[in-house]
Amino acid sequence: METQEQFSHYSVMLKESVEGLAIKPDGIYVDCTFGRGGHSRAILDKLTSGKLLAIDQDPEAIEYAQNNFKQDGFEIQYGSFEQLKDYCEARGWLGKVDGVLIDLGVSSPQLDDAARGFSFMREGPLDMRMNPEQGLSAKEWLAQVDEKTLAQVLKQYGEERFSGRIARVIKEAVQQGHLETTLDLAELVKKASPKTEKNKHPATRTFQAIRIAVNRELDVLKNVLEAAVAVLSPGGRLSAISFHSLEDRIVKQFIRDQSQMKDLFPDSPVQLEVVEPILKKVGKPIFPSAEECKENPRSRSAVLRIAQKI
Ligand SMILES: C[S@@+](CC[C@H](N)C(=O)[O-])C[C@H]1O[C@@H](n2cnc3c(N)ncnc32)[C@H](O)[C@@H]1O
Repeated sequence: METQEQFSHYSVMLKESVEGLAIKPDGIYVDCTFGRGGHSRAILDKLTSGKLLAIDQDPEAIEYAQNNFKQDGFEIQYGSFEQLKDYCEARGWLGKVDGVLIDLGVSSPQLDDAARGFSFMREGPLDMRMNPEQGLSAKEWLAQVDEKTLAQVLKQYGEERFSGRIARVIKEAVQQGHLETTLDLAELVKKASPKTEKNKHPATRTFQAIRIAVNRELDVLKNVLEAAVAVLSPGGRLSAISFHSLEDRIVKQFIRDQSQMKDLFPDSPVQLEVVEPILKKVGKPIFPSAEECKENPRSRSAVLRIAQKI
């Protein structure tokens, strides 16, 4: 039997993302995506009297933190990072946080554990929830979504060109009771895909799209970015790692929008009211080195963006 301890996580752009936070040893930091704590550990190593709050919505990550991170100044919070503002408010930290780190997506332990249902390579239940205690599993979601919406999700979140055809066969299989496991879905998508991409399983895009939908990944990302601005102190840093273009677009646009002066009445011939920028971009986007990509192929698609609250 597999145990959680067998699954480890290689922390992506560890040095670059933590350096991006410009850590003050007595500062207050939030790691929104604890996972197995690689980034949290690197932040803690730089703190003396500072504090670190780590968040994760996966009960297995929480258990790992409770067993392995028992030092002063560290606290783990179970829940969605969408509630970042509430968590900070409860600690009297609104406007006082010196750095927020977000390392998006799923962890290797989640992907590698067949029982979590994220992998099209391993037979498991069709689940894909990062928090298995909340919301609908992928199987339940596929049963209640209509074909048209499913096709839209596959197209938008998976950038799947055969979205209509795949949505149809998925709904047929659901109705016939033929869709139980990850491999059922992977096989179905493979059969429904007239063309395949080199070195890419035909179900990659479908799995990505369903995972994003089940976990509301893009909505929660928009919400946590807004919350980060509210909790950061002037001069505080945001360090965000994305893993696909949809996530990165949201982070990039958010930083760009918040870095610009906004004219609240753009159609008025005279300028009536402007909102000053609240963020400034720090440096250029950072990509993993060739060495890191070789050591950890899962890091290949990562992009790190850093911003500072003004
Ligand atoms: C890529 S892993 C983070 C790995 C971590 N930085 C490390 O070095 O071990 C992403 C983690 O964030 C968690 N996560 C993703 N979305 C979340 C959300 N909305 N709220 C809380 N945790 C989330 C996942 O459960 C997963 O454990």
